[in-house]
Amino acid sequence: MKIQIHLALIISCISLNYAEDIISEEFDGLENEIAENIWSKFDNEILKTITASKALYDPSKSGIRSILKKQIQADLNSFKDGITATMVESAVPYGTHYQLINHTLYRQNNCLFPSRCEGNEHFLLKLTDLPDFEIIVNHRDYPQVSKHFNAKIPVFSFSKTDDYADIMYPAWSFWCGGPAIKLYPTGIGRWDKLRKLLMKEAEHWPWEEKKNKGFFRGSRTNSERDELIYLSREMPDLIDAAYTKNQAWKSVKDTLDAEPAPEVSFQEHCHYKYLFNFRGVAASFRYKHLFLCKSLVFHVGDEWKEFFYDVLKPWVHYVPIKKDYTRKDIRDILMFFKKHDTLAREIAANGYNLIKDHLKLSNVKWYWKNLLEEYIKLQNLTPEFNPALMRVT
Ligand SMILES: *[C@@H]1O[C@H](CO)[C@@H](O)[C@H](O)[C@H]1NC(C)=O
Repeated sequence: MKIQIHLALIISCISLNYAEDIISEEFDGLENEIAENIWSKFDNEILKTITASKALYDPSKSGIRSILKKQIQADLNSFKDGITATMVESAVPYGTHYQLINHTLYRQNNCLFPSRCEGNEHFLLKLTDLPDFEIIVNHRDYPQVSKHFNAKIPVFSFSKTDDYADIMYPAWSFWCGGPAIKLYPTGIGRWDKLRKLLMKEAEHWPWEEKKNKGFFRGSRTNSERDELIYLSREMPDLIDAAYTKNQAWKSVKDTLDAEPAPEVSFQEHCHYKYLFNFRGVAASFRYKHLFLCKSLVFHVGDEWKEFFYDVLKPWVHYVPIKKDYTRKDIRDILMFFKKHDTLAREIAANGYNLIKDHLKLSNVKWYWKNLLEEYIKLQNLTPEFNPALMRVT
């Protein structure tokens, strides 16, 4: 009998590739032994990666705020020669126009998503001590300014990839504005309240009481999620992953030929040890919540970011999964952590502590303030009061 064992190490940070390891063997008796050897090779590589990542991570050196400041610098780098009135004018079509003049905040009348504007204005209204500024805030999910097209258009967006020159700001949903799903009809928001709720839930579901399997619920905003759903159908004891309906749902085709699963609250995620996060249209709002369950977060893909993503380190706070993962990749990495339960628990606790201690509303406000201060320094213009704008209170 000829057996072929392919073990592709897919985790993004590891360049090793066992796909070439094709082993032919005449003797059935050796089959298990060979599988064992390959498995232990995989096992050792993951262990090495975790140890190395842990050794590199020095929380005292890489202060959270210094990492956040670097993000601000990186985003404003395209504007280091100054932001002119013409540049701001060119940004107007891409978002909502705001001005701070004499410590009063003004906004254009129409707002595409009123509750998203409200979510952002909660923070902007706390910053009226700042000098005058003029900004264009994109309230859509998707970033607007492709670097390949023109990087000199200053547009604030909540999420982007490296292909975009948008300036990242903390999403409206830290206060209000969605996204809205059936369970959260007015949209998720009030991060301060949700934080408390989830930390309490995590206490009710300590690690040893959590279900020892992976979990995912979400809509099919993106086919990158399909393989996880298929794996769940093949190995329901290992992972429970299913699609829910979204507004675009028309038939079971949109949920991969299955009836849509009911939506699940963030709290319910805390019942499981391993939670999966994918990008949606842009970065997923789900991400930050998952950590507060004190479950182990598997984060798929590393392109889509929000302002705080860089403070989270792969293998220290979460498990990175490359976006073109296979079912087998997920199976192997889940089996690895089932075998190394203490390690899984440790990374879960690291992620939890980081989000608990540092992703607070006070730091969200701090980020907005620092971002605007740096932006104001680059303003090569005197904001002229625009009478078409309305006062925001
Ligand atoms: C801002 O203050 C300056 C100086 O006091 C004043 O001349 C100007 O009219 C004020 N502008 C607005 C829009 O209130």
